[in-house]
Amino acid sequence: MKMTAVSVAVLGSLFAFGTQLAHAAPDWGKVPKRDVTVFHAGVTPIEWATKKSDHSGATGLKKGETCIGCHEEKGGLNFNMKRMVKDDLEPKGTPKTLSFPVTVQAAYDKDNLYVRLSFKAPAGAVDKADKDSEVKAAVMFANDKVSQGAQVGCWQTCHSDARTMPGADDKKTKYTKDGAYELMQWKSAKGAKAVDGSVTDKRAMEGGGAGVKAEGTKSGDSYTVTFTRKNPGEGKVIPMGVAIHADHAAGRFHHVSMGYKLGIGADGDIKATKQ
Ligand code: HEC
Repeated sequence: MKMTAVSVAVLGSLFAFGTQLAHAAPDWGKVPKRDVTVFHAGVTPIEWATKKSDHSGATGLKKGETCIGCHEEKGGLNFNMKRMVKDDLEPKGTPKTLSFPVTVQAAYDKDNLYVRLSFKAPAGAVDKADKDSEVKAAVMFANDKVSQGAQVGCWQTCHSDARTMPGADDKKTKYTKDGAYELMQWKSAKGAKAVDGSVTDKRAMEGGGAGVKAEGTKSGDSYTVTFTRKNPGEGKVIPMGVAIHADHAAGRFHHVSMGYKLGIGADGDIKATKQ
């Protein structure tokens, strides 16, 4: 049969449809799950973690040990969380739930990387300062210029002089002394835009180049948040961390993970599966 202009147009639209299917969200049922524990970290910025007289892990960090290497044990973290409830590492007050698990999944195709977080967001925040969003979920990726990025995850952005730290300037955001982080965040507030931002010498909540999209659903007290962003590249291993602001929490009153390696078709603590 000779192709007419009409049948070419039909084929064209079929092709476009097929392409869309190839870029559809991954089949999460086939993607492995990795639980990471997020916890209320009190006032333990990088200056604390790397000071020997404050934290005996400082020596191991210098030698190349990772936070999770010392602190992650089967089923969670080995912290003495009691230090976060009295006037030791947390002067202001502590959320009722000190730590909880977040299930992380990751997948990629030619164009995109997909990261899915599933968790139960606990009530009982200390200071419900975010009136708009009950829950926010964030993921940060460190680039290879962040010193000890693969060991410490987000901790290089956490400083004693940043806002909501005791006695700090309220305008000073999180920052990193070297390298840069990509920052993506989903907010539960109606109509809120996904954050495609960065952390360099300051935090920017927009202007990132990752083309971040985020979708979240709530069922009971369980949230599922899916990020779609540009694929950083097959074979890459990227240091990442997760933060959840639960129950209208703001600033440092989030529950954070330590650093994990995300392997995109490569080895890692969290492995992104090809779709
Ligand atoms: C070489 C092992 C080691 C490494 C690496 C390490 N820590 Fe620790 N950490 C410890 C030990 C031991 C303690 C308990 C005693 C203390 O505070 O010094 C501790 C205590 C803590 C505490 C206080 C809670 C408690 O149980 O006392 C926090 C919070 C903490 N570490 C966070 C981190 C973070 C964040 C990193 C990475 C930036 C890290 N640690 C890296 C060994 C380590």
